[in-house]
Amino acid sequence: MAVDPYKQQVAHAAAEQVPEGITLGVGSGSTVNAFIDALAARRVRIRAAVAASEASAQRLLARGFEVIDLNQADEIPLYVDGADEIDAKRHLIKGGGAALTREKIIAAASRRFLCIADDSKLVDRLGRFPLPIEVIPMARSFVARQLVKRGGRPAWRENVVTDNGNLILDVSGLRIDDAVAWEKDLNNIPGIVTVGLFALRPADEVLLVGAKGLREL
Ligand code: A5P
Repeated sequence: MAVDPYKQQVAHAAAEQVPEGITLGVGSGSTVNAFIDALAARRVRIRAAVAASEASAQRLLARGFEVIDLNQADEIPLYVDGADEIDAKRHLIKGGGAALTREKIIAAASRRFLCIADDSKLVDRLGRFPLPIEVIPMARSFVARQLVKRGGRPAWRENVVTDNGNLILDVSGLRIDDAVAWEKDLNNIPGIVTVGLFALRPADEVLLVGAKGLREL
C-alpha cells in the first residue's frame, strides 16, 4: 500500500531527532510504521527499541533493529508515537489501533514523548473520536454501564483482542472538557485496564504535518 506523503514527511522529521545509541520507545499505528521505515532508510543507529505493539516489534525486527522488553530497559530518553486526536494542551486520544496500554506504559517510562501526526488530528476539544478503553473481558458489561451513567455511548469493538488479552470499548458522546479529570475518574472504574486519554502524561512535543508543511505544537 502506498504510504501517505504527509506521514512520510513527519516520520522523516522525527527520525532526524533520534539521537544515536539510545534505547528508543516506539509506538504503533500507520504513522509509526512510516517512522520505523524512516529510521531504517536514514540508517539511524539505536541501541535497541522498546515497542508498544507486536506489530511494531515485528516491523522493527524486519528492518534490522534490536527489540527489547521494557523490563530490560532503563529510562527511555525518547518515545515516538502517533495519536487519534490532539488538543492544544498536547492531551491525546489514543488506542485506535488497540495498543493503548503498552503505549501508555512506555510513554510513562520515557523522558520525552514526541507525538507525530497529520494536522487533521488536531481538535479544539477531545472526544469526537470515540474514546478507546481497554477492559478486562469479564468486566465489559459492568464497565459499559458505568460509561453510560457518565453520558457515554460505549460500543464493543468486536473481534478485537488486545496484545494483553483484553477487550476494547469505543465510547462516543463524552464531553471531554477537562481531560485530566476524565482520565482520573475513568481510571477508578474497576475492570478498566487503560483509558485512551493521555492527559496525566501528555506529549511533550507534537510534530504536525499538513498542506503548509511541518509545525510544532
Ligand atoms: C494505536 O493504538 C494508536 O494509539 C495510534 O497511535 C493511533 O491510532 C494513530 O494511528 P495512525 O498513525 O495510524 O493514525
